[in-house]
Amino acid sequence: MFRTKPIEHLIENSQGEHGLRRVLRPYELVLLGIGAVVGTGIFVITGVAAAEYSGPSIILSFVIAGLICILAALCYAEFSAMVPVAGSAYTYCYASLGEIWAWIIGWDLILEYAVSISAVAVGWSAYVVNLLADVGIILPPALINPPGVAGGLVNIPAILIILAITAVLIIGMKESARLNTLIVVINVAIILLFLALGYGHIDAVNWHPFMPFGWSGVFAGAAIVFFAYIGFDAVLTAAEEVENPQKNLPRGIIISVVIVMVLYVVVAAVLTGMVPSADFLKTGAPVAYALDRIGITWGAAVISVGALCGITSVILVTLYGQTRIFFAMARDGLLPSFFSEIHATFQTPAKVTLVVGLVTALLAGFVSLEVIAELVNIGTLAAFIIVAFGILVLRRSQPLRNRPFRCPCMPWIPILCIGSCAGLILMLPSLTQLRFVVWMLIGLSLYFVFGSKNSNNREVRNPG
Ligand code: ALA
Repeated sequence: MFRTKPIEHLIENSQGEHGLRRVLRPYELVLLGIGAVVGTGIFVITGVAAAEYSGPSIILSFVIAGLICILAALCYAEFSAMVPVAGSAYTYCYASLGEIWAWIIGWDLILEYAVSISAVAVGWSAYVVNLLADVGIILPPALINPPGVAGGLVNIPAILIILAITAVLIIGMKESARLNTLIVVINVAIILLFLALGYGHIDAVNWHPFMPFGWSGVFAGAAIVFFAYIGFDAVLTAAEEVENPQKNLPRGIIISVVIVMVLYVVVAAVLTGMVPSADFLKTGAPVAYALDRIGITWGAAVISVGALCGITSVILVTLYGQTRIFFAMARDGLLPSFFSEIHATFQTPAKVTLVVGLVTALLAGFVSLEVIAELVNIGTLAAFIIVAFGILVLRRSQPLRNRPFRCPCMPWIPILCIGSCAGLILMLPSLTQLRFVVWMLIGLSLYFVFGSKNSNNREVRNPG
């Protein structure tokens, strides 16, 4: 149960018939990172968080959440260069903490990936429904809501977007990365356009009082906007599909987090400078609202297109990430082996992609996800804690191992990462914490029913 998997075995496994093609360039990796991250968070949550929690000091909330993500990114970077294998946090845990922890984190990552795909697809559907309504096409409520919500039967747009993205991912990684690049470029261009339009309308009066709810408001805001940063670790699930992973993975993850952080902080500053923060209570689309207020009415439509692009790329990269994590788990025998089969023509793990696509599409189509979506933050924070802990363990158990990238200021960065993530978890509602514990207990039971019996790590001795 606590056996680790030697890093050499992990790398060896990734090179046989269950290996993937290295088709991604370094810049595509950074764009995958940005694509996975910039979505609903910045376009929706910023306004609510500014109005209810932090006021203009939401700028600081973004800085704090961003710094925590940089701490985590540095830990992830060390692991990714040392174990350049698909599976990200799951694989790193297998190498450092042992099989049961690897299973636990694999199960936990379902929250960060599969559940968030469904939640984000529901957000996509809402944007499309609004855009269509703007041009006079009204879809019947039964087809745009899950059962039990506003006369709904099934959320068709949410299902369709997931199925379309599943098809692209099955066809090929190169094609998927190209689509992602296009979407990210449009999305970032629209955000920059917003900054250019809004900059001249900043009124410093709106930044006073800067901290209407004090520091506690700033930290509560950080726990909320943390969602906007989620996804950057999906970069690392591409370990087996990128050229020169030992160099490119650490760079890819750190550069994408830093770019996103700068973008978010500037957007937050301009947004809160344009409109008094309390006014954001009136809207679910703060960026479009701010443009409306300065008289740029066409802005709302353009921003909606940007939001749609952002959300599409989040679904694309997160779906991709989930398939690669299951793929790695199946290769290790912790999930059924057909999850790790590679399609002869497309050279992608088509079966696992199809399964993940169908399940998340069903979830998005038939379940109201507001409650489950809260689990995404806690699941991600828990993953960061386990990865940071793994770095500390591996530095002790295998001090001489070659580390192409070394996390600086050891052991302080992982310790700070663990402390700050635990702090944010404590700021989340206790019901969310309870649901998280229940989810993990279900996962643990499954490990004893399936994973522990089928793992192909039986014959390996603990190298530690
Ligand atoms: N970070 C992603 C978003 O904001 C989940 O949509």
